[in-house]
Amino acid sequence: MARAETQRVERQTPDLLAEQLAALRELMPQIFTEGRVDGDKLRETLGDFLDERPERYSFTWAGKRDAIRLLQIPSRATLTPVPAESVNFDTTQNLFIEGENLEVLKLLYKAYAGRVKMIYIDPPYNTGNDFIYPDNFADPLGRYLELTGQKDAQGNLLTSNPETSGRYHSAWLSMMYPRLFVARQLLREDGVIFISIDDNEVHNLRCLLNEIFGEENFIATIIWQKVFAPKNTAKYFSEDHDYIVVVAKSAVTWLPTLLPRTAEADARYHNPDNDPRGTWSSSDLTARNYYSEGLYEVTGPSGKPFKPAIGAYWRVRKDKFIDLDRDGRIWWGKDGGNMPRLKRFLSEVREGIVPQTLWKHDEVGNTQEAKKELLENVRFENTDNVLDTVKPTRMLQRLLQVATESDNRHLLLDFFAGSAPMGHAVMKQNRQDGGNRKYICVQIPESLPSPENSLKTIADIGKERIRRVIKKLEQENEGKLDLKERAMPEDLGFKVFKLAESHFRSWAGAEEKDGESLLAEMEKMQDPLLPGWRPHDVIYEVALREGYSLTSAIEELKDIADNRVYRVTDPDREQTFRICLDDTLKDKTIKALNLTRDDLFICRDVALTDEQAANLALQCRLKTI
Ligand SMILES: C[S@@+](CC[C@H](N)C(=O)[O-])C[C@H]1O[C@@H](n2cnc3c(N)ncnc32)[C@H](O)[C@@H]1O
Repeated sequence: MARAETQRVERQTPDLLAEQLAALRELMPQIFTEGRVDGDKLRETLGDFLDERPERYSFTWAGKRDAIRLLQIPSRATLTPVPAESVNFDTTQNLFIEGENLEVLKLLYKAYAGRVKMIYIDPPYNTGNDFIYPDNFADPLGRYLELTGQKDAQGNLLTSNPETSGRYHSAWLSMMYPRLFVARQLLREDGVIFISIDDNEVHNLRCLLNEIFGEENFIATIIWQKVFAPKNTAKYFSEDHDYIVVVAKSAVTWLPTLLPRTAEADARYHNPDNDPRGTWSSSDLTARNYYSEGLYEVTGPSGKPFKPAIGAYWRVRKDKFIDLDRDGRIWWGKDGGNMPRLKRFLSEVREGIVPQTLWKHDEVGNTQEAKKELLENVRFENTDNVLDTVKPTRMLQRLLQVATESDNRHLLLDFFAGSAPMGHAVMKQNRQDGGNRKYICVQIPESLPSPENSLKTIADIGKERIRRVIKKLEQENEGKLDLKERAMPEDLGFKVFKLAESHFRSWAGAEEKDGESLLAEMEKMQDPLLPGWRPHDVIYEVALREGYSLTSAIEELKDIADNRVYRVTDPDREQTFRICLDDTLKDKTIKALNLTRDDLFICRDVALTDEQAANLALQCRLKTI
């Protein structure tokens, strides 16, 4: 009997542009010829809508094409679990991934597309001496391994992007483009991204975001007061602030959560006319937006006539104005002779406060507070190693309050995590409001300026901070009986993974090989796994390729006696598969597994006889490695 072809577990991540091409194909099948977009047919279809005028608005930079092509290079890497560096590895839903973020984002794509509620990133600002990762088009993982010293360490990881390089802004844009592109795909429809930046690149970032997310999804630019004392050594102005650019996946769907009302905000409401409806504050009844019915004249109680100022319009029609006045909702001033304003009663305003765009340091912290917070949690031998760019948890907590709910298990992502203030802020916020948010932090193991005994890289600082914060939160709980009632137990843990080479052997190719070495190569390929593999490492690699979260549970099935079989369950996606990595699969095992058409079963191709392969392919969804 000839061996039936079985479906293989993918060795690489999917093409990230494929999703958009599929959507385009659904909408316009006529523009595709043999799987590719035919430019002429696209032109024919779009007719006058295609803007090919030589003078039109465009945003481009040197290297843009390669930055886009980088997205199509699949990742062949994996994420390897490191339980020894983790806390509560088997139960936690939080992740810290040490690795280069584009490779990591590509690896996360299949499992996490459309699942992240909020992304915060604090990328290099391109100040000339911060580290800009040099993407390598030909061999992305090879470059990473070289830079992080896992292969022959010739590279120097601290690759800055000096202003004199000639491609200063282009290099930064090329680095940001593919990462933001994948980030968008990971967001839920009601998700949002916050990006810290300063004047070096804010203009380019806005253009880039318009291109990737669509101009209509821009929400706001927050100004964060990062320092409060002026720097008198500044040449022109002492810079007190950073920006946080806010963009939604869809501005139609996303809404901020209102912030809790403060006594200060309530104190802005008064009741000078003893209105029985209680305290109120007043707002301008005119605006500068053109409104065809907004130019009438009104007369106040004192007999004085009023019209909007030149270029302004009433916000409401005349009949509506008269109704409001009759209902005592127009304020003409104490003597009845002022420009009319609209009364807004405290009892009628929304439950909370709409977030504002100016974030002052006393409300959300500053850089000094952020450094102090880091030093309270990580013991440095050399304070040169404390990041200058560290962000305060109070600021990140404010973002969490605006963009997540405490009780919906919202997933947060920070892929330029640095010292991991996001992990810290999530745990702090969950402790304060009994929430169950969870996070993924990604950070490259960038070497510290003065490596220490326990801390060699920025990733080490991030992990150490999270471990210390967990310890402190546990200590706070000790001896307390009246712990807040929670729907789910508090997640005081995190799982560490590291970007690594695949455990699968890759075919070295047949070119320029003599018969003997070709045979040797084929012989090696009999075993798809590289020497030294460990079951859990391989299972996580398979799980990622199959779109399972890294927090899936892996359990060895003890009731199966003749083979080692594991069950992988992803509770978030309600999916499960079973996997056996043994060299042979016993008939008794297949029987005991009791597989049905809905079950996914994965094993080595060489472990199956032709008959077993044929039967299993009929019985369940069979995939082999
Ligand atoms: C501005 S810092 C983030 C600081 C962080 N918000 C904090 O409070 O500690 C940017 C970080 O991104 C990291 N980084 C730069 N390129 C990266 C890449 N390609 N993958 C992962 N991390 C990267 C740098 O090592 C640096 O630690």
